[in-house]
Amino acid sequence: MSATAELKSSGLEGMIAGKTAICAVNQTSLIYRGYEIADLAENATFEEVAFLLLVGHKPSESELKAFSKELASQRAIPGAVIDYLRTAGPWLKSGSAVPMDVLRTAVSMLGNMDPNSQAVSPEADLEKAKTLTAQIPTIIGHMQNVIDGREIVKPDESLSHAANLLYMITGEKPSDEHARVIDVSLILYAEHDYNASTFSSRVIAATLSDIHGAVTGAIAALKGPLHGGANEAAMEMLREIRSDIGKDNDPKKIQDWMHQAFADKRKLMGFGHRVYKNGDHRAGILHKLGRQLAEKATDDSLAWFELGEEVQKIMETEKNIYPNVDFPCGLTYFTMGIPVPQYTPIFVAARITGWAAHIIEQHANNRLIRPIAEYVGPELKKWNDG
Ligand code: CMC
Repeated sequence: MSATAELKSSGLEGMIAGKTAICAVNQTSLIYRGYEIADLAENATFEEVAFLLLVGHKPSESELKAFSKELASQRAIPGAVIDYLRTAGPWLKSGSAVPMDVLRTAVSMLGNMDPNSQAVSPEADLEKAKTLTAQIPTIIGHMQNVIDGREIVKPDESLSHAANLLYMITGEKPSDEHARVIDVSLILYAEHDYNASTFSSRVIAATLSDIHGAVTGAIAALKGPLHGGANEAAMEMLREIRSDIGKDNDPKKIQDWMHQAFADKRKLMGFGHRVYKNGDHRAGILHKLGRQLAEKATDDSLAWFELGEEVQKIMETEKNIYPNVDFPCGLTYFTMGIPVPQYTPIFVAARITGWAAHIIEQHANNRLIRPIAEYVGPELKKWNDG
């Protein structure tokens, strides 16, 4: 066997790497602390789901009111972080940094300024988790304001978490429908057991490192296009298809493009999943909402969705590979006019709750995570033997 073949990783596929009471990812269901995702997407708000994940139970009316008020009142970020976002403006414009990189550094800076930064008790983690959940949308919004050359849009405490996020990015109060679609996307993105970024955050937390450090690492893991970065990559792929074949969504041209991609052994972004082999049920929920928005928007918005649907049909019928949540997410955020490089940061604005819940769970019952590797390198030899 060649050395490369011997090093091919199993990616820990199918391995149980620990226990959790937060989330169950199954072929046919996704459950957050006992509640199915379709139920939550239909009936809960992001604030309710954030409480459920972080605190561990469905909030009472008074708990929800206090929690939502606390989140809304903690949205402002320190001046030093705003100065950093302004400093990063030219890097973002030149492309030497992307918003996920800048968000990662800003979160790390917030840790430096938190007087309780070193504490790892579940109580301290929860307080810091709430602050991070409140502040991450502000970092995203201010960063986009800097990119657009707009005055910094201050957070609006009267708006829900989702509506405020959109408001800070665009400077315009969103419609109820847009706010609800973002809200649902945040619910769908909030948690997903031992995915790569959450597992990274648990590995970091398990050394008894702090929550800001664990979240900084998780953001780095989420950025990659095989994970959260796929929502941006999926939309970029659709843009590439349109630029290659034109706007008219000719099925033959789409099919030719796809066949060429198959021949080139390309990974089609927003498709496939390590666990879900018969489809990601989050994808159907978001596709439906996004398509409804596109139908009410412009003919072109609908044309983008129709292009996506054609690509999806070919992937399903010819490869038996289904879209994951990132595929309809890209199309939905595009319909809403959100800049593509902010799609994965918005994923962070949701997944912070899942990461924090796992970091709290890890710190509360900790043992160092330290697997072993099978050595396949050279035989033992002497340094002085030549
Ligand atoms: N496009 C083309 N072929 C694919 C794709 C795809 N998106 N996904 C899987 N395949 C093929 C793969 O080439 C392999 O074929 P073969 O057996 O002939 O080599 C087969 O399907 C099995 O795939 P795999 O690579 O063993 O699957 P994996 O579990 O290692 O990878 C994945 C899962 C999500 C990394 C992969 O499906 C992928 O790269 N997808 C595109 C990126 C993406 O959409 N990522 C988002 C993941 S889910 C949500 C999130 O985390 O944000």
